[in-house]
Amino acid sequence: MSDTQHASWSSRWTFILAATGSAVGLGNIWKFPYITGEYGGGAFVLVYLVCIALVGIPVMIGEAYLGKRGRLDPVNSLRKITTESGTDKRWTLIGISGVLAGVLIMMFYSVVAGWSLEYVWLALQNGYSPANAGLQTHFDGLTGSIERQLLWQTLFVIATMAILAAGVIDGIGRTTGVLMPVLFVLLLILLGYSLSNGAAAEAAGFMFAPDFSKLSAEAVLVALGHAFFTLSLGMGAIIAYGSYMPENANIGKTILTVAALDTLIALVAGMAIFPLVFANSLAPGAGPGLMFVTLPISFSAMPMGSVFGGLFFALVAIAALSSAISMIEPAVAWLENNGISRHRATLGLGMVIWLGGAASVYSSEIFNLLDMITAQYMLPLGGLLIALFVGWVLPGKPDSDWFFDDFDIHPTLLKCWYITLKFITPIGILLVFAHSLELL
Ligand code: TRP
Repeated sequence: MSDTQHASWSSRWTFILAATGSAVGLGNIWKFPYITGEYGGGAFVLVYLVCIALVGIPVMIGEAYLGKRGRLDPVNSLRKITTESGTDKRWTLIGISGVLAGVLIMMFYSVVAGWSLEYVWLALQNGYSPANAGLQTHFDGLTGSIERQLLWQTLFVIATMAILAAGVIDGIGRTTGVLMPVLFVLLLILLGYSLSNGAAAEAAGFMFAPDFSKLSAEAVLVALGHAFFTLSLGMGAIIAYGSYMPENANIGKTILTVAALDTLIALVAGMAIFPLVFANSLAPGAGPGLMFVTLPISFSAMPMGSVFGGLFFALVAIAALSSAISMIEPAVAWLENNGISRHRATLGLGMVIWLGGAASVYSSEIFNLLDMITAQYMLPLGGLLIALFVGWVLPGKPDSDWFFDDFDIHPTLLKCWYITLKFITPIGILLVFAHSLELL
């Protein structure tokens, strides 16, 4: 796709839906509740919210801006912007490390997405019935079986690559536009069930009453990393999507909408899960199995539990799919802009990802390592570079034309964003890094 013909989405809504589709995924429904449980609840949630506001949103606006201005994949957008603005070409590295990070994330993400497919399958066998006492051991059985995990992971990788091969411009926006609202309604039903049948007060206390004595340096780093992960930041996904934004789209309001939806869905997922955790005397720090163990319990107690359960996990898999697409789209677009056909690019990437996924099925250490390296280090580092590039290196300041044209928000708000991106965001990221490396 050449520079001049680069497609764009028909409306601002398409961008909001596609970016929300990217942001809302396993990060919100699976990862957020389980890390909140592992890192002790309220204080972790508070730090996470601060990270979203002071680091996540500013970087997200910066990324969308780079994409809208560059109009190409992350690597070539940065190459073009550095050339046009006469800045150092080495900033293109942001795009390159991003392409790599996306592929690495997908290697473990596809395994977890595969788990949700297994739970759809379970529904088809009417597995969420009160008589099924084996739900708690079901998850252990699944994660103990290399064959079953490989089967589902393979299916998920094939589905993702097939959609990417077909091209994302129309597909993503339309699909997520219908499915995201359905997922949200189902999540609200689960929330209602959980609040009325579970230990709601205890769960609310756990999630929203901060106890700072439980907050470790590692927890702060995990919260920061998750702010990046959940908003799909630090690796160019939003640069890639921003490049499809229509000229007249307003970046500021659009990004705020996406970030607010993403945060809301994570909190609702947490409040749908924790009342059940406490009511069933389960451990909040149970780890990656948390969602897959608690939610089936409530489905099996509901009338028509297998229908709800199957639908819910199918929607989780679809939310994961729309996120997975955005993880790999930067790599596909980059290869495509380097003369490799879209089909070849997806085939090659699919094979690499499948192999990495197989490795993380075989070894939970590889699974955890991929998660940690990407979420805790690569994404925040990418975000730091984006903040420095947009805030310090690119010429232009809040009262110059391009800012106003592209952002079209109140000048005071715009200045707030600029100052946050310039000072608070990079200092925040550096402090968290220094703290977790025990330099502070
Ligand atoms: N945000 C997605 C989630 O919460 C995951 C994701 C999609 C992602 N694209 C990304 C994470 C790019 C980091 C970078 O599940």
